[in-house]
This record gives sequence, structure tokens and C-alpha cells, in this order.
Amino acid sequence: MKNILVSGGAGFIGSHLIDRLIEMGKNVIIIDNLSTGLKENINKSAIFYKRDIRALNLKQIFQNHEIDTVFHFAAQIDVRKSLNEIEYEIDVNIKGSVNLIVNAAKYGVQEFYFTSTGGALYGDNNVLPATEETEVMPDSPYAIDKFTIEKYLESFKRLYGFKIFIFRLANVYGPRQNSQSEAGVIGIFSTRMLKNKKILVYGDGKQTRDFVYVKDVIDAMMTIYNKKVEGIFNVGTTEETDVLTLFEILKEELDYKREPIFLEMRPGELLRSALAYNKIKKAVGWKPKTSIEAGLKKTAKWYKENFR
Ligand SMILES: NC(=O)c1ccc[n+]([C@@H]2O[C@H](COP(=O)([O-])OP(=O)(O)OC[C@H]3O[C@@H](n4cnc5c(N)ncnc54)[C@H](O)[C@@H]3O)[C@@H](O)[C@H]2O)c1
Repeated sequence: MKNILVSGGAGFIGSHLIDRLIEMGKNVIIIDNLSTGLKENINKSAIFYKRDIRALNLKQIFQNHEIDTVFHFAAQIDVRKSLNEIEYEIDVNIKGSVNLIVNAAKYGVQEFYFTSTGGALYGDNNVLPATEETEVMPDSPYAIDKFTIEKYLESFKRLYGFKIFIFRLANVYGPRQNSQSEAGVIGIFSTRMLKNKKILVYGDGKQTRDFVYVKDVIDAMMTIYNKKVEGIFNVGTTEETDVLTLFEILKEELDYKREPIFLEMRPGELLRSALAYNKIKKAVGWKPKTSIEAGLKKTAKWYKENFR
């Protein structure tokens, strides 16, 4: 049996995907530099390389293992940091991704799966929910770089003939999400509530996002993987949830007694975001199953049990 390489496999979404692949009896190789990922997320049945996707010696991994499939999750995922540390952003999200793609092409990979972004890519263009046909309006280096890698993949598909599968994800949440970064409001709220720390809300808290539960995301990826339908697919719920609603549900679940502190809206922050999922539903029959209430309940339970 050939091998599946997962970059970013010690991270939030990647580690859930690997658990599923291992359950299916697949051979998995992980590359992760543990910059935000955690050793404890790494499935013991996978082979782990602590390696940076920018590394020149990435090719050794392709030479030593016969790899036919790549899932590429490794990234600098913080939108705000992508503005403040643009060179690092480009280095990891463009140069690192291209390094991985070039190696994949050179060493005969047949399928390349990429996690792009939905919300940040469609931006504030007032089309709600956004479909894959909606004009992209990337407003941050992070979103521009995700779009750039989509284009690299389309070009490399034409040049080298591998199949490409692109997931434009909504805001993913669930167990193992890193609460340190700017990326996961649910993780940040949960851990701060458990430490009884103050919760900051930027603006009036009415800004919305499309929150999709991680298990539903893995189901979407695995359905595409099993049916091999190529293309660009939104993975979201079409539902908008505002920050104050999140706050209220988590407050209840985590028995938090304080009220939020409202601060000025941060410049560049999206007001609303939601993704349509008709395309993936039509292609492979996927739709989200977990309501925001059920997903938050499970997530809050996990944070309670894994409170650090
Ligand atoms: N979480 C979301 O809501 C969301 C939404 C849209 C897209 N995505 C994309 O999904 C992917 C996974 O995101 P996540 O939420 O699991 O984030 P995460 O930070 O938990 O996972 C990213 C992993 O990549 C690793 N990594 C970072 N830079 C690396 C490098 N230079 N070399 C090797 N490894 C590196 C980190 O250590 C981490 O384990 C990312 O590409 C992200 O952009 C996530």
C-alpha cells in the first residue's frame, strides 16, 4: 500500500483527518514543525517527521516513502499576523506550499488535497451565502496566498496531471483547536472562560461567521477522497452565528459569570460571512450534520476535560 503525506498533521484539523485515515487502515506520514501543532495530537500509528514545509530536504521524505496522496494543512493561519508579519506569511504559505507542490509533482503524487479558506477569500462582497462562483475579494495576505496556491495547483495539474481537490473552509471549530492563535474565537472564549478571565468583544458582537464542526469537515474531505470528485468546494453550513450568540452559549456551558468587554471594531474585520454548500452536496451528497448548539456543547465539554 502506498502512503498518504499530511502536512500540518499535528494541528487541529489535520490531526482529526489523520485519525480517520488510520481508522480506515491507511499508511500516514506527517510533516509538521510543531509551531502551533502539538505532539499529543499526533496519532501514534503515523510516521512523524518534525520538519518545516520550507525545508530543502523535504525531498528525502518523498524519496524514502512512496507517496501517492498529499493533504496539505500546514500553514501560518493567523489573518492578523499575515498583515503584521507579511514576509513570514509569504515564506510559509507561498514558498512552503510551493515547495511541497513541486516535490509532489516531481515524485509522482497523484492526488493533492488543499485546505483553502472561504470567509477570508470571498471577503466583504455582500453575497451571502457565498458560492464557489462568487467573486473573490481577498483582503489579507493570508487570503491572497491561499488563492495563489489554488492557482499554482491548477497550473501544476495541467503540467503534471495530478488530481486536485480544494476545500474552501468556513470557520472550523471543535476539540483540539489551538486557543493561542487569533484564529479560533471559540477556543479563545472557552479557555478564557475556564480561567475566569475577561472576554473581549470587538465591535457590537453582531458580526457573524459560518461555524462548521470539525467532524463534519472531515466527513466532507473523506467523501471527496472516497469518490475522487475533483474541484473547488466550499465546506460550510450557510448559517450565520454572531459573536454574542457564541458568547451566550459558551457562558452557559462553561458556567461563566462575567459579561463581555466591548472594544472598538478592529479595522479590516469582516462583518458577515457564510458559505453555500450546494456544490459539494450535489457532487458527493455531503451536508453538515452538527448544529452550532450541539457542536458547541461537545467542544465546551472537551475544553473542560482538557483544561490546561
Ligand atoms: N481552522 C479554521 O477555521 C480554518 C479555516 C479555513 C482554512 N483553514 C486551513 O486549514 C489548515 C489547518 O488549520 P488548523 O486550524 O488545523 O490550524 P493549526 O495551526 O492547528 O494547524 C496547522 C499546522 O501546521 C503546522 N505548521 C505551521 N507552519 C508550518 C511549517 N512551516 N512547516 C510545517 N508545519 C507547519 C503547525 O505546527 C500546525 O500543526 C490551514 O491550512 C488553515 O489555513 C483553517
